[in-house]
Amino acid sequence: MQKITLSTPTGNTEILVGAYLSRGLETLASKPILLVDEHVLCEHQDQFNPFHCISVPSGEVYKNLHTVEQIYRELVSLEADRSTMLVGVGGGLATDVVGFVASTYLRGVPFGFISSTLLGQVDASIGGKNGVNLDGYKNMIGHIRQPSFVWCDLSLLKTLARKEYISGIAEVIKYGAIWDVEFLEYLKEHMEGLLNLDMDVLKHVVSTSAKIKADVVQKDEKESDLRRILNFGHTIGHAIERDKKILHGHAVSIGMILAARLSQKLGLLENSEVELLRDLLLSSGLPVEMELDPEVIFQNIRKDKKKSGKHIHFVLLEGLGQTQIRSISLSDLKPMIHDLC
Ligand SMILES: NC(=O)c1ccc[n+]([C@@H]2O[C@H](COP(=O)([O-])OP(=O)(O)OC[C@H]3O[C@@H](n4cnc5c(N)ncnc54)[C@H](O)[C@@H]3O)[C@@H](O)[C@H]2O)c1
Repeated sequence: MQKITLSTPTGNTEILVGAYLSRGLETLASKPILLVDEHVLCEHQDQFNPFHCISVPSGEVYKNLHTVEQIYRELVSLEADRSTMLVGVGGGLATDVVGFVASTYLRGVPFGFISSTLLGQVDASIGGKNGVNLDGYKNMIGHIRQPSFVWCDLSLLKTLARKEYISGIAEVIKYGAIWDVEFLEYLKEHMEGLLNLDMDVLKHVVSTSAKIKADVVQKDEKESDLRRILNFGHTIGHAIERDKKILHGHAVSIGMILAARLSQKLGLLENSEVELLRDLLLSSGLPVEMELDPEVIFQNIRKDKKKSGKHIHFVLLEGLGQTQIRSISLSDLKPMIHDLC
């Protein structure tokens, strides 16, 4: 089992990476209440049934204040108090909802996560961002609060749908692209093992990714500076996701290639580096291109909540493994997007 500690001014998280970690629930000081993604509960009933379980509905349409309100009511009926530990079990959707519930119920109760998707384990469960959607706008209501623990249980990934698993690989490759060229080399050599859920490869990949995310968050919890680099590929990726309704990782994969091409046009990245990134994404089964309407993509970027005023913080690559954040005005960005798409 790998152990990583994330320390921030608002709290510390112990991140564990290994198999069958849910057995650790027995060792918690007080009996927790589990809030479990409905599909995870169905697939892994035997592991979670000995505990009080509240089912969290799956699907972005349920990531809203109505679901949060229903969970509050169930907590009241179970007489959950300030000492009750809430454990969110599931992917990024469940952990975002549970983190928000735990931050607001009784003005905050202790909480931890058992993460059950690759995207959740390498990204969503780490860093304390939580929240729900409002009127179709993603993560509009939320908070930053660190869970006490995140258990990345690799054994749960065996029941995850293939396309969801591959979607998570996009975030893994992102970490190599923005932070660690050696990790990119490792991924190139071990992609087959990763796709086959080889436990040794998976343990290395999840713990390396989780460590990079924890390092970045530790330096900039509130995303005033460094944390922005985690958005590499996401500015265009979110715009594609909103337009085409494809999985997050698939949209981010295309977004990363377009951001890499922009970096190349600006003289920051070699063509061979763009090709290396492209080949790696393709080898994992992720898409790297798609027919896009540049005006729709630009308008979606314009509405992005990460926009500050008339500028956007765009993450570019300055060689593989290094980033440069440029504040680009919307009027300058428009022709760039038209040129790229
Ligand atoms: N807080 C953050 O920093 C952050 C970062 C990235 C993404 N997110 C959020 O994460 C969400 C996406 O998370 P995700 O990609 O993990 O998807 P998800 O949580 O929606 O899960 C995807 C699907 O897999 C099912 N599932 C989950 N684990 C399973 C398992 N082990 N076996 C079988 N089925 C399983 C779920 O029921 C769901 O149908 C989005 O809402 C996004 O906004 C948050």
